[in-house]
Amino acid sequence: MKIFVLNSKGGVGKSAVSAQIAAPFIWVRNGRKGKVNLIEFDVENNDNEMFSQNSAIIKTSALDAYNKEALLKLAQIRDCVIDSGGNIQTSAALEEFAAANILRKIDLFMVPLTAGIQDVTNTLNTVDVIRQYRPGAKIILVLSMVYTDPAVQFWWLLGDKWHLYKESSLTGDYAGLASHLMAFSASPFIDMAKGIFGETLFEKSEEDITKIEAEMDRLAGELAKYEDGKAPHEIDAAYDQALREQRIVYEAKKFREKCIDPAFNAMEEVLNAKQ
Ligand SMILES: Nc1ncnc2c1ncn2[C@@H]1O[C@H](COP(=O)(O)OP(=O)(O)OP(=O)(O)O)[C@@H](O)[C@H]1O
Ligand SMILES: [Mg+2]
Repeated sequence: MKIFVLNSKGGVGKSAVSAQIAAPFIWVRNGRKGKVNLIEFDVENNDNEMFSQNSAIIKTSALDAYNKEALLKLAQIRDCVIDSGGNIQTSAALEEFAAANILRKIDLFMVPLTAGIQDVTNTLNTVDVIRQYRPGAKIILVLSMVYTDPAVQFWWLLGDKWHLYKESSLTGDYAGLASHLMAFSASPFIDMAKGIFGETLFEKSEEDITKIEAEMDRLAGELAKYEDGKAPHEIDAAYDQALREQRIVYEAKKFREKCIDPAFNAMEEVLNAKQ
């Protein structure tokens, strides 16, 4: 399974969608084994690099979109997520990918956009370019960094009908895309899981919170043996770390339920739909 995450607009959540949704999706589909290749087409600022140490599900690398040899190798990889990166010219890169026979093998294109008029322009252009090379491509628009109700935040895109997945103001050639929309909620814990733990929220959501709480109880018992402020620093620090861990696992489970699982369902639906 190959998923390509792209938008000619920068900073719309391409890397976040790649790591937090697309890679875990493939990992689950592969029976929760091995690691999913996450390839970023930006050798200068490989944003996903932070996962390389600790993530149990992602293996990151960076490629140059104009390096023909690298692209040919990529065509041989069976499962991967391609993050188009922030430094490539989408249409030029797509042309390279098409030439290297990669676009033909992409199962799903995901195009994230945030709530800005310019984002829509770039998004629809990106969709046009994808269709130019792959007329029957399966494309999901990912409403990214949603912090309220997506129907409110994206009302100018979706129309004022308040029926997010059924009707929208996307018309004409884009009308069909209305059924291929999914929301990606904003969460401060995305950057926290990545920055502090080097993991995705999906991975955090899989952890057993009762184990962490048992460890917290044990450490609290240790701390209780000392007078206030007299406990060894290591125990204090370990307790703080467990507290952070507990909080993030709790938040990750909420995020999983609210955003990741529905996203997986939407992706399955699009993948299983007839072209
Ligand atoms: N759902 C979200 N909730 C909170 N923060 C988010 C979310 N999605 C992305 N971000 C943050 O917004 C910033 C931009 O997102 P991201 O790096 O994924 O965009 P990008 O499209 O890959 O950018 P670039 O074009 O520079 O590669 C990052 O700091 C990221 O952590
Ligand atoms: Mg990026």
